[in-house]
Amino acid sequence: MIEIKNVSKWYGPFQVLTDCTTSIRKGEVVVVCGPSGSGKSTLIKTVNALEPIQAGDIVVDGTSLTDPKTNLPKLRSRVGMVFQHFELFPHLSVTDNLTLAQIKVLGRSKDDAKARGLKMLDRVGLMAHKDKFPGQLSGGQQQRVAIARALSMDPIVMLFDEPTSALDPEMVGEVLDVMVQLANEGMTMMCVTHEMGFARKVSNRVIFMDAGKIIEDCTKDEFFNNPEARSPRAKDFLNKILQH
Ligand SMILES: Nc1ncnc2c1ncn2[C@@H]1O[C@H](COP(=O)(O)OP(=O)(O)OP(=O)(O)O)[C@@H](O)[C@H]1O
Ligand SMILES: [Mg+2]
Repeated sequence: MIEIKNVSKWYGPFQVLTDCTTSIRKGEVVVVCGPSGSGKSTLIKTVNALEPIQAGDIVVDGTSLTDPKTNLPKLRSRVGMVFQHFELFPHLSVTDNLTLAQIKVLGRSKDDAKARGLKMLDRVGLMAHKDKFPGQLSGGQQQRVAIARALSMDPIVMLFDEPTSALDPEMVGEVLDVMVQLANEGMTMMCVTHEMGFARKVSNRVIFMDAGKIIEDCTKDEFFNNPEARSPRAKDFLNKILQH
């Protein structure tokens, strides 16, 4: 579903990604972790071409992002993305947040968009809040609306960038529950997260990045259960985050 091939990227003179190669099959859940500044957000943003790359190629569902003939807005509309800060429109109701892109980007009728949006809202357990505004919801609820909004677009893959790291601790679980459910239903997912409980429970693979490079790309079992085989940097990282 996603092929990342020898991707390098620079911000001016600073090389943020160095020769990154990996691929994600349909239905696979891949967790990306690593220290702050290692390039995780940048890598995930390159997958829907929010950040251009200067070398290599990325192919999503058979379509190359670097091919000038590719219709990037169209491709992006099929790649769901959920960020750390739930970017809902504050001046629109939950229902309008769920339907806007379906109508504007996918050309769905208002009724179809509403039906689809509310179905997804129900799926994340928030039907009772359909007429509220984002400011009237908790952080965890807003993040679940953001997930429902992405799902309303019928994505072929979902990208998550630390979706729980800005939440109060008691709200992390409700967002992770929705993500676990999605994973179990077979959604293809690439998730930047340090929620190692989530990684252990549902991921198929773990990618560990350091200084713009993919240092580890292995199965969940290899990553968590065979620490001796890991690179010193990954071992050090695991020790730190698993201590708490
Ligand atoms: N727009 C930008 N211009 C210049 N440098 C940038 C830009 N965005 C990110 N960087 C730099 O690129 C590096 C990687 O950033 P990135 O946000 O991808 O890291 P990250 O692994 O997601 O970190 P964190 O865990 O803190 O979110 C950092 O050194 C950062 O300062
Ligand atoms: Mg980041």
